[in-house]
Formats: sequence, structure tokens, C-alpha cells
Amino acid sequence: MNKKITIAIDGFSSTGKSTIAKLIAKKYNFIYVDSGAMYRAITFFAKQNNFVGKDFLKKAELISELKNNSLSFQFNKQLGFAEMFLNGQNVEKEIRRLEVSQLVSKVAEISEVRRKLVKEQQEMGEKGGVVMDGRDIGTVVFPNADLKLFMTASADKRATRRYKELIDRGDKVSFKDVLFNVEERDRIDSTREDSPLTKAKDAIEIDNSDMGIQEQFERICTLVDRKLKEI
Ligand code: DC
Repeated sequence: MNKKITIAIDGFSSTGKSTIAKLIAKKYNFIYVDSGAMYRAITFFAKQNNFVGKDFLKKAELISELKNNSLSFQFNKQLGFAEMFLNGQNVEKEIRRLEVSQLVSKVAEISEVRRKLVKEQQEMGEKGGVVMDGRDIGTVVFPNADLKLFMTASADKRATRRYKELIDRGDKVSFKDVLFNVEERDRIDSTREDSPLTKAKDAIEIDNSDMGIQEQFERICTLVDRKLKEI
């Protein structure tokens, strides 16, 4: 029988968490959940409804609308991963734009938003066999995860990767804006009151500033194999 463990991957923005999480999930036949996509989808909804903008946040209005929002992941066979749907609409492209990245940390600070999403994330991981990446997975969502990883890399390296990704997709962005966004999100995500980004005591730190995908993948597979033998 395929043994199932829970793997929590946390870390700063654009540290390649989702790339590595997808590869691990594929290899071990686990479910991959991109928790950041859920915060992004709620932010997209808030932006569409004028509840959040560069200089404002209509917190009470957003909170009262939360219950009317349904989020789901739908697996796209061609892409090989699950895309984010908000109220039945595929929002995968929209939620990756810099405009959403620039507002998401503000929305992710709201405790009511966190409570809703953490509950849904815990339900998705109930049966084990899940790889979830985010900011509070090893500390709040799955404090008893079998394996916890904490990814880091220099801000410059991360912004370079993110900039390339956005440019390759055809988005018109400047490197300066991307770097500013990466640093600003780190700051807000790490200093917010509710569930700040911190390394769980039992997490293994991986600095991938000078590490390729294959090297990270092999290193993490060794850790997963070791865990699977233990259980
Ligand atoms: O992983 P990402 O960069 O797509 O996440 C977008 C934002 O969502 C991130 O800047 C902070 C927030 N987030 C969070 O607060 N908690 C999570 N578990 C995942 C993301």
C-alpha cells in the first residue's frame, strides 16, 4: 500500500516552494495544495469588488462576504497540476499577476480570512498523502506534519526568478517593482500578528540560493524516503 505522509513546505515568497512541492507530490503520488493560491484568490475577489486597493482595505465588507466565496482546486491533466477556481471560475492566471501579489499580504493579515482558509486546508489534508506549501503550514495548519521544510534564498535571487517568470508569461513588469514586492511581502508576512511566517522548531532549512531544482529534489526525496521508512 502506498504509505501516506504529510509534508509541510514553508518559506519566503518566490523560493520555489511550489515547483519543488509539485515534483515531490508527483513522485510519491500525493496531493499538492498551493495554499498561497487560496489567499491570492480571496485577494482577487476583494480587488474585483473594490474591498482592497493600494491605499485602502474595507475589512468589514470583505469579512461579511467571505462566506459567499467558494474555493476549489481542479486538476488540469495537461498542465499536471491543479488550478484555482473561485466560485466556479478558473482564476489561475489572474491570481499570479503582480497586482494581486501587491495586495495579497494585506488580505492575508486578516484573521477571519486565515480562519476560513486554514480550516479548508486542514480538511484537504485530513487523509494524509499531502504536500502543502505556504507560510504557516508547519506552524499552524499541520503542526504535526511528518516532514517540515523551510525554504530560503536571497531576495535578489528570488526576485530574479519571479521577474523571469512574469516576463515569460508576457506580463509587463519592472525588476525594481518585483524586487520591492518580494521584500515587502517578506516583511508583512513575517511581522503580522496572526500566524506570522516563522520556521517551525522541527523544520529543516534549505537555502536554495545556489541550488538547482534537481539538487533540491534529490535532497528532499532522501528526507521523504527516510520518513516513509520510519512509519
Ligand atoms: O505562496 P504565495 O507567494 O503564492 O503566497 C501569496 C501570499 O499569501 C503570501 O505573500 C502570504 C500569503 N500566504 C499566507 O499568508 N499563508 C499561507 N499559508 C500561504 C500564503
